[in-house]
Amino acid sequence: MSDHHLAEIAALRRQILALSERYAMLAHGPKPFVPGASPVPPAGKVLGAAEMRNLVDSALDFWLTTGRFNAQFESQLARQAGVRRALAVNSGSSANLLAVSALLSHELGKRALRPGDEVITCATGFPTTVNPILQNGLVPVFLDVELGTYNMDVSRLEEALSPRTRAVVLAHALGNPFDLAAVTAFCRKHGLFLVEDCCDALGASYGGRQVGTFGELATLSFYPAHHITMGEGGAVLCSTTRFKKIVESLRDWGRDCYCEPGKDNTCNKRFAWQLGELPPGYDHKYTYSHLGYNLKITDMQAAIGVAQLARLDGFVAARRANWQYLRDGLADLEDVLILPRATDGSEPSWFGFCMTLRPGVPIDREDLLRWLNDERKVGTRLLFGGNLLRQPYMKDRPHRVAGPLEGSDVVMNRSFWTGVYPGLGTDQLDYMMDSLRHYIRARVSP
Ligand SMILES: Cc1ncc(COP(=O)(O)O)c(C=O)c1O
Repeated sequence: MSDHHLAEIAALRRQILALSERYAMLAHGPKPFVPGASPVPPAGKVLGAAEMRNLVDSALDFWLTTGRFNAQFESQLARQAGVRRALAVNSGSSANLLAVSALLSHELGKRALRPGDEVITCATGFPTTVNPILQNGLVPVFLDVELGTYNMDVSRLEEALSPRTRAVVLAHALGNPFDLAAVTAFCRKHGLFLVEDCCDALGASYGGRQVGTFGELATLSFYPAHHITMGEGGAVLCSTTRFKKIVESLRDWGRDCYCEPGKDNTCNKRFAWQLGELPPGYDHKYTYSHLGYNLKITDMQAAIGVAQLARLDGFVAARRANWQYLRDGLADLEDVLILPRATDGSEPSWFGFCMTLRPGVPIDREDLLRWLNDERKVGTRLLFGGNLLRQPYMKDRPHRVAGPLEGSDVVMNRSFWTGVYPGLGTDQLDYMMDSLRHYIRARVSP
């Protein structure tokens, strides 16, 4: 290409990127809030000029598969999360699938889990925290949830133990860390792996240490409701290079080769390996040592992720401020609602503001949520699957239960949450609180 041609390409690129930023600001900038007319969503994405610029920048590359933005995203995420390596994947559910599947890898030798082994988890939460346990032929052992923190009740951990227990897989519920002191001590005592599902908790910490750094593996989701987004996306955080190698292989078709896309001979032995029953010298690029998937992201997703990651601290601070604003503002409704609380010793990175109607209160949750939605445009969410054992898909699945699941049933019947995401300001939060108070006080006097 001539210098003139190259200069024209560079100039066009600059122009397109500047226009993209301007477009994002005009077309997707914040809109004024009109009470009763504007929705108050429970969650949402906060995207701006930087995200649009990166997205268009990656589109102009025309690289499409994982490339320079993915490499930048993975290394910045690992640094920010305080882990050895971070691997980007196409969803939080895929991240959980890979993290649990990694525990069965032959690379772990005697410590590898085998089908039929048991994994302790919480009966309340998101299904794809638990599903990879079943998908790998392992047996989930369910413990109840604690109201208020909405994390697993750790007081019955020892009861859940059996000779086949090999791991604990738990989510930090709605951004509130679970009791990591109790869970890590239990795992250490019994030689169990810990997988932290941090999909709703990026930026949270416990005892001054970030969640995701306690377990052998941890996971993140970048779906729009989450702390940062790339549309669809997630990541596996790995505490060791061994786990990084396993997860990467499982993510990338199960291959033994670890070349970046577009590279061919990183190990310098591409035609010198002999593995399995393959002939000596069989191309390492086509040698598979795990039962793998393909769960990678595109570079356009990663490009948005890079811009979002730079804004993470501000997002987390806004979520915390919004949560506290609701906690203070709703204190007068504590006779009707169990209000949420942070786990002792933790600094949550809140995903939502969860409330539970107290027993005997003459309020029908579905009627309340319908009224908020239809009359006030205030969006709510349930605490995901409630008691997961009562979901249709769980019928006849192998599992064990340790202790009663009364808390999980309460969550299923009487809990709901509203938004704290950074797109909400005090106008929306005040309107949401007034709406809730209006409905409740028409039925229950203080
Ligand atoms: C705790 C938890 N784990 C996993 C997931 C799955 O993430 P994704 O929607 O990216 O698959 C979610 C989704 O919100 C979640 O809340």
